[in-house]
Amino acid sequence: MIRILVRDRNGDDRSIDGEPGISLMEAIRESGLDELVALCGGCCSCATCHVYVQSPHASMLPPPSGDEVDLLDGSDHRQAVSRLSCQLTLSAELDGLVVEIAPED
Ligand code: FES
Repeated sequence: MIRILVRDRNGDDRSIDGEPGISLMEAIRESGLDELVALCGGCCSCATCHVYVQSPHASMLPPPSGDEVDLLDGSDHRQAVSRLSCQLTLSAELDGLVVEIAPED
């Protein structure tokens, strides 16, 4: 299991676990945290799974696809560490990942 610390929009932290191979979005949704709407179900077409990934893991992630960049560009809350959580696959090296759910657009 991969341990992830998720900060919600109230600033509250929650430690969750996710299986390697599932997306970060799925792990957050399966934990019961419903702030992450994930409207498109992970098809990279809605941007409602927007998170901020903290160091050091932000630099360990594969670069975003063109579609992911386009969706993030449409967000008023984009930051340098913004990612769409449905596009991030959990793996052992992401154990200890810290993310914050971005404000709703
Ligand atoms: S769930 Fe829609 S883009 Fe991630």
